[in-house]
Amino acid sequence: MRVVSGIQPTGNLHLGNYLGAIRNWVRMQDELEDGQECFFFLADLHAISMPHDPAELKSGTLEMAAALVACGIDPARSTLFNQAQVPAHAELQWLLNGTARMGWLNRMTQFKDKSGKNREGASAALFTYPVLQAADVLLYQATHVPVGEDQKQHLELARDIAAKFNHDFAPHDADGNEAPVFTLPEPINPPQAARIMSLRDGSKKMSKSDVSEMSRIELVDDADTVMKKVKKAKTDPEPLPSELGGLADRPEALNLVTIYAALADTTPEGVLADFGGEGFGKFKPALGELMVETLKPISGRLNDLLDDREALDAILARGAARAREAAAPTLSAAYEALGLLRP
Ligand code: TYM
Repeated sequence: MRVVSGIQPTGNLHLGNYLGAIRNWVRMQDELEDGQECFFFLADLHAISMPHDPAELKSGTLEMAAALVACGIDPARSTLFNQAQVPAHAELQWLLNGTARMGWLNRMTQFKDKSGKNREGASAALFTYPVLQAADVLLYQATHVPVGEDQKQHLELARDIAAKFNHDFAPHDADGNEAPVFTLPEPINPPQAARIMSLRDGSKKMSKSDVSEMSRIELVDDADTVMKKVKKAKTDPEPLPSELGGLADRPEALNLVTIYAALADTTPEGVLADFGGEGFGKFKPALGELMVETLKPISGRLNDLLDDREALDAILARGAARAREAAAPTLSAAYEALGLLRP
């Protein structure tokens, strides 16, 4: 088992990242057995696909590394690094660009969402972004990739690229059996890994790129800010139903119930069993308190880590050295399979 996943270091970690992805990273790390490994990285190379400020990218990368450690990623047990320190990611992306098809990339919904009405003005990096993401996981022979719902399409593409590359270029042994260059990775999205929506609009995912800060809870938010954001979260005047079916046309209410369930490690049905018939005047303060309780220890650790820049640099340097070592055999095999001469 090889677990690999990444996060873009733009903006602060929010509750959607935490409940949809990072908490599962920590759980997978904590359940590792001998011989199994986890690789978690800051996708700083992906971050340059959108307009960005270099100074903010640099500080954001360090802050995100600190946030992951504060959430429970242990650099002694998991390999934690940023892509830019491991050139094999960019190299393998170029090699895979020969295999990825334009038609496949044209179907990626994230490119459509992020380029919006300005497709012609979008960067080429935004278009080929999923090929870099494929390189990120294929480089380490990842078997399991914990991601939120929104990244599943990119993972499917990584599997398609791996399968086509193996089919077109993998060497064969003496008996004629294919010796695959890449492992096909499985996306992992456990049922308790909720898809968390914006607090202002239940049809949009909670996102660091949303202009409204009121739309998301950030892990660095203090207790007052959390309570304010929850109390101002968009809802409707109806009380909560006792059955999940009663939330079918109420996306904002469903989102708050989903968040509560994820924080309390129960199901939305379990939350409705407790709060069915109650109005938001009672539910929101309970939800806010649960959030504050969850975030308090994380933000405490985060602030301590941010005070020690040298320690953070050292964590990333150590992780990158291990990642470079782990990536080397697969990168060589890919060059070799393609017939590219190397020393
Ligand atoms: P990113 O940085 O947008 O998000 C990091 C992780 O958080 C999940 N996530 C959510 N889950 C539930 N609800 C939400 N509102 C929410 N918002 C974000 C994402 O699904 C993701 O798992 N392209 C990726 C980063 C990446 C990557 C990779 C991931 C680069 N290479 C290789 C896996 C494997 C991204 O932009 O995620």
